[in-house]
Order: sequence, then structure tokens, then C-alpha cells
Amino acid sequence: SLLFSWLAFQQAVCAPSRVSFLTGRRPDTTRLYDFNSYWRTHAGNYSTLPQYFQENGYITLSVGKVFHPGISSNHSDDYPYSWTIPAFHPSSEKYENIKVCKGEDGSLHANLICPVDVSEMPEETLPDIQSTEEALRLLDIVKEHGRKFFLAVGYHKPHIPFRYPKEFLKLYPLENVTLAPDPDVPKELPSVAYNPWADIRHREDVAALNISFPYGPIPEDFQRQIRQSYFASVSYLDMLVGKLLNGLDDEGLSHNTIVVFTADHGWSLGEHGEWAKYSNYDIATRVPLMFYVPRVTAPTPRPGEEVFPFIDPFAQVSSPAPQGRPGETVELVSLFATLVELAGLPVPPPCPQPSFRVPLCVEGQSVARYFPPGRAGGADPPIALSQYPRPGDTPGWNSDLPALQDIRVMGYSIRTADYRCTVWFGFDPNNFTVHLQDVHGGELYFTESDPNQDHNMFNNNTLSGPLVRKLCKILER
Ligand SMILES: *[C@@H]1O[C@H](CO)[C@@H](O)[C@H](O)[C@H]1NC(C)=O
Ligand SMILES: *[C@@H]1O[C@H](CO)[C@@H](O)[C@H](O)[C@H]1NC(C)=O
Ligand SMILES: *[C@@H]1O[C@H](CO)[C@@H](O)[C@H](O)[C@H]1NC(C)=O
Ligand SMILES: *[C@@H]1O[C@H](CO)[C@@H](O)[C@H](O)[C@H]1NC(C)=O
Repeated sequence: SLLFSWLAFQQAVCAPSRVSFLTGRRPDTTRLYDFNSYWRTHAGNYSTLPQYFQENGYITLSVGKVFHPGISSNHSDDYPYSWTIPAFHPSSEKYENIKVCKGEDGSLHANLICPVDVSEMPEETLPDIQSTEEALRLLDIVKEHGRKFFLAVGYHKPHIPFRYPKEFLKLYPLENVTLAPDPDVPKELPSVAYNPWADIRHREDVAALNISFPYGPIPEDFQRQIRQSYFASVSYLDMLVGKLLNGLDDEGLSHNTIVVFTADHGWSLGEHGEWAKYSNYDIATRVPLMFYVPRVTAPTPRPGEEVFPFIDPFAQVSSPAPQGRPGETVELVSLFATLVELAGLPVPPPCPQPSFRVPLCVEGQSVARYFPPGRAGGADPPIALSQYPRPGDTPGWNSDLPALQDIRVMGYSIRTADYRCTVWFGFDPNNFTVHLQDVHGGELYFTESDPNQDHNMFNNNTLSGPLVRKLCKILER
């Protein structure tokens, strides 16, 4: 009951999404649509959210997957610009993709579905368990030194592979797991919009099913197993987040610490016959976004009162539903301005267009105006923009994640409370130009009559025409 949630969107893949919300700039400004460039040298030397806190006297700490590791954070998680000390990565991360999953044949495989006995794992732990332990250790240190801190904890699950403690399977008996409500590829979906979920096909257990490319389908019993393991992974993560938040209580920090919980993208679990991320559908772009702000979202706790009591996931107690106005449309690119405002720091100015030479500005508006829960947000109906690149019009092996030089089409998507409208435009990666006359496909879904986004109304020009013009106007800026 302390937290509340919205819809939030940007680009549905890890590195571009993280660089976008951590710099407060859209993918067209970070120029990162794949995993292969570092914004400071490739686009502009933009300040980051943790960097801004560091420059304002905070100690800034990164635990686990916060920036995407690799080129996109210069193989350093953007240290030292963003962080006071080098980022922590759990030592057991290196076993994520190797043969550690016991198959039905009794031998070890690199599987998608991988419930494990943690005591049998290398180092007898899992990465997210180690990250939680490290985060609790760091909280203890910053408390002891009385330092203002910005701690980012990046959990891996429910990212694939689904390697998680097998006891969490008990929460989701297979016979109770349903298929997606709309498990078929919609007939009116333009082929450029479809993502063929290449990454899960390479896992040993999925490869053994010999699923046809690009449309599948995955056998129904295996669909249920994927969904079961995804749900179990989420519950495992939920338990770890519960331990971490309870640590704030133990350290006596809950009364003066802001908490935000979010994710870098969603994940299809068979909706529209799709799996994984890599699309402009809500199921891939939508993320949880929850805030705890002392004295704003919750009253000041009485001495000794726990703000974040640990709830045993196996104890079957029902917790109160979150407050607020779920359904308010906001953007992840707003996180920078929002956290800065909530912490009482000066909010950086809005970015001019273009802003490649401006080191400190934000493209997203603070959503602090909606606080406390239930407060009206203002006159303008909120819009969220997302985008996704494709190498061509028909699904191929690199459609999910084209490298920059292979991008030929960019799908831009507007989401309001009432609809989602996506237009797939020609795109030139050499000069980052969008060709607004070169339309490769379109999608239009109405939230109220078609919440799952299965009935594409784009061919109705009376409905889609004005929305396409609105999108073009935004892109022409
Ligand atoms: C980029 O910005 C950082 C501070 O934000 C600064 O230390 C660094 O010198 C800048 N690099 C360049 C090449 O301007
Ligand atoms: C990226 O890392 C390399 C190697 O450590 C370093 O030489 C370079 O200065 C870094 N880039 C920036 C912009 O800091
Ligand atoms: C599974 O479904 C049965 C029948 O609807 C129900 O009684 C049971 O509580 C469910 N189990 C769980 C763990 O949800
Ligand atoms: C896999 O499926 C294709 C057709 O989709 C078929 O030709 C091939 O024989 C199958 N291979 C195996 C090993 O089942």
C-alpha cells in the first residue's frame, strides 16, 4: 500500500533502455539501438542520473546489472563518471549461460527452463542472491558513515535463462498455468512488426523442439512450462526485493530513503504468438514503476514500526493492493527528473532539439506532480513514445536485435490512455534519418475495446490518419 504504479515505455531491449533512462534521453539522442556503442563517444558526453547525484554530494553505488555490461557502458559500467566505487558484479554470473541445468536425462544442459537446487550450483549461490547480500552490506556501510547515498541494485531475473531456486515452482502448479489469452499471431499484424524470438530458440531445451522459424508455434505444454518458470522467477525476485527493502528497516533508513522499483522492458509470454521483448507492443514496452517516498506516499513510520516487513512468499498471506491510479501513462525517460526533484536537487533544464552538445539536460518531464497518489497531473493528456528498429520487412534471424548498420526500418509508437499507434518508417543508419514518406507498416489498437492489442485498426484511414500526422509532427522536431 506504500507504492503505486504506472505504465512506462521506451525501447524494449536491455542496453538501449538502460542508457536511455539513466541519461534521461531517448534512444534517438543516445543513438543506441543495439549493444555496440558508448554514448559519451558515439552521441554526446551526457551526464547520467547517478553522476548527477554524485556531483551533488551523494556516494553512488552500482550492484549487479544496472548499466548493461560491455561496450554500451565502456566495459566499466560508466565508472568513474557514474559511480563512486567500481560497480559490483556477482561472481556466479559467469555460470548463467553454461551447462548447469539438470535435464530429464540426468545430465547438465544450457536450458531456457532451469529450476535448480541452489546448493548444487557452482559456488552454491545465484547472482541475484549475491547482489542482495552485497547491497545489504553496502547499506550497512553507508549507514555507519552517515553518508547520503544513491544505491542502484540491478537484478537479473526474470531475464532468460530461468535459473532460479526450484522451490518457487511450488507457487505455480503446472496444471494451474494457463496459456496466453491470445496465443496466435494476429492476421492483421504487418510482418515488420513481428519479432521471431531468436534468443530463446538457441537454448538446448528449445532447440530440441525443432520449432519452425519464424512463426513457430511452441508446443502448448512447453508454453505452459515457460510461463510457469517466468512466474516462479518473478516470485524469486520479489522475495529478494523484500529482503533488500527489509534491510532498510533494519538499518533505520526507511524514514529518509526514496525507493523506486522499475525494469528495462517487458516480455511476451506467448501473447500474439510472440516470446521475449523486441517489439512495440505494450507487453514488451510496459514496465512496473513504483515509488516509495517517505511522508509523501506513506506517513512517517512510528519509532520501531516496519515500513517494509518481510513477507514470506510461501506463507500464503495476501498483501494489500497497491494504491494510486494504475493506467497513468508516463515514460521511463522521466525517471531522471523525477528522482532529482523528489530528492530536492535542482531539476536539469529540458533538452533543446537536438541536444547532442548539451551535457546536462533531460528529455522526460518529472512525474512528481502526480504525488501524493491521486493528485491530478495537469492539463495535457500524457503521451509515451517508444521505438524499435528492424533490419527489413520480413522476420529474419537478426530482426529481434539488428546491429546499427543493418537497421532499415524504425517503428515509432505513441501510447496514450486510449490507444497505441505504431508506424514503421524507413530509416538510414548512416545519418540517423527517418523517412516519413516511406511507411513499411502500421498498427493501431484501442485500449478499451482491445486491451490485448490483437485487432489492428491501422487500415481504417479515418482513424489512423490523424494519429499518423501527430506522430510525424513529433518526429519532425
Ligand atoms: C565528459 O564529461 C565528464 C563529466 O561529465 C568529464 O569529466 C569529461 O572530461 C568529459 N569528456 C569529454 C571528452 O569532454
Ligand atoms: C573508455 O575506456 C577506455 C579504456 O579503459 C578509456 O581509455 C577511455 O578513456 C574510456 N572512455 C571515456 C569516454 O572515458
Ligand atoms: C490451482 O487450482 C485449483 C483449482 O482451481 C485451486 O484450488 C488451487 O488453489 C490452485 N493452486 C494454486 C497454487 O493457485
Ligand atoms: C525439423 O522440422 C523440419 C520441418 O519443420 C523437418 O523437415 C525436420 O526433419 C525436423 N527435424 C527433426 C530433427 O525433427
